[in-house]
Amino acid sequence: MDQLPEGVPPFIHISQNELFGLKRKKLKEEDIAICECVYDETNPESACGERCLNVLTSTECTDGYCPCRQHCRNQKFQKCEYARTKLFKTEGRGWGLLADENIKAGQFVIEYCGEIISSAEAEKRSQAYETLGLKDAYIISLNANCFIDATRKGSLARFINHSCQPNCETRKWTVLGETRVGIFAKKDISVGNELAYDYNFEWYGGATVRCLCGAANCSLFLGAKSHGFQEYNHVWEDGDDRYTVEKIPLYDSAEDEQFSSYGTSPSERELAAGGEIHWLGLFERKNKANADLNSVYDEIRPIIEKHEGDSQDSVPTSVAMKWIDATCAKYKADFNFHFSIIKNVMCPSILAENEAKLSPGDGQNETK
Ligand SMILES: C[S@@+](CC[C@H](N)C(=O)[O-])C[C@H]1O[C@@H](n2cnc3c(N)ncnc32)[C@H](O)[C@@H]1O
Ligand SMILES: [Zn+2]
Ligand SMILES: [Zn+2]
Ligand SMILES: [Zn+2]
Repeated sequence: MDQLPEGVPPFIHISQNELFGLKRKKLKEEDIAICECVYDETNPESACGERCLNVLTSTECTDGYCPCRQHCRNQKFQKCEYARTKLFKTEGRGWGLLADENIKAGQFVIEYCGEIISSAEAEKRSQAYETLGLKDAYIISLNANCFIDATRKGSLARFINHSCQPNCETRKWTVLGETRVGIFAKKDISVGNELAYDYNFEWYGGATVRCLCGAANCSLFLGAKSHGFQEYNHVWEDGDDRYTVEKIPLYDSAEDEQFSSYGTSPSERELAAGGEIHWLGLFERKNKANADLNSVYDEIRPIIEKHEGDSQDSVPTSVAMKWIDATCAKYKADFNFHFSIIKNVMCPSILAENEAKLSPGDGQNETK
């Protein structure tokens, strides 16, 4: 491996997974998968290519057992046949990895190496890293019982960032009887382009991190679909600062008096206070917010139904956010409307005065 650029936080580079507290299973001879490829000297591509039985089942050939012997082309994990890549500093997403040569669709890019740990250890580590305040998380799932942690030890794959519109994907391969994770190109990638895959389902970051991938279909949060250990570890971001749930700065309503924050425009505050705008406007807003909520529900219903059919226990974050936004807008409009009515009942003189100021002689605006 070339030397790392200056400023990259230290880690131990490995090109083979290391088992942590787990025993390596010995590969039995009867478990070795042997393909039926026949090597043709005039055609090097004949050795364990796309049609090799092992390649078709995402299994690497075993040295000494492949009929194509030294010509076998299906030992890429074992021989570290990676694409040329380069580390670079991104904006806002830490370090990233880019293609240092043109990469073809389907090509094996690099193995995601790290320490293989149990799920109990993964949960423990994930929380410990969070407590230590580590900004970047490197734990991904390997199978139902094991995880790969590339925090302390890993390959350059640990630097590949997430994208909601990725040019790479993870694939699991069986290599000498063990499952390993490779990053593969989903499409042709030109030299100089950043490599990225979708962290959903595989990534166990331990915290909810806002996604900065910039894709049009961005799902807003990293690993939005992975459940992992996130329940106890939600993190709130504010600029460069990240807070765990218990450390989120408390809301100070005084700040809202000076600055108009998202969703609380001055006109809305005036409306709520029964100020310059007629309460009929509030009634219209209330109806609009209700109609918006219904239309959002119509839009997301197919996703929810599909989701229930797949028996997953949470919908994608982007869908949930849309629903929450519309519901909050509805409650807010309801509250503003009812508050203005109460205010009208309690202090009718103030409202009448305001209405008179707003539209002198306009009979339409009279409170009925
Ligand atoms: C596996 S590491 C990737 C390498 C990392 N950027 C670094 O500097 O070491 C995952 C971490 O990178 C950051 N990251 C990756 N993709 C991101 C994205 N799309 N938006 C924001 N942060 C991202 C997050 O901090 C995440 O915990
Ligand atoms: Zn073969
Ligand atoms: Zn082979
Ligand atoms: Zn995104």
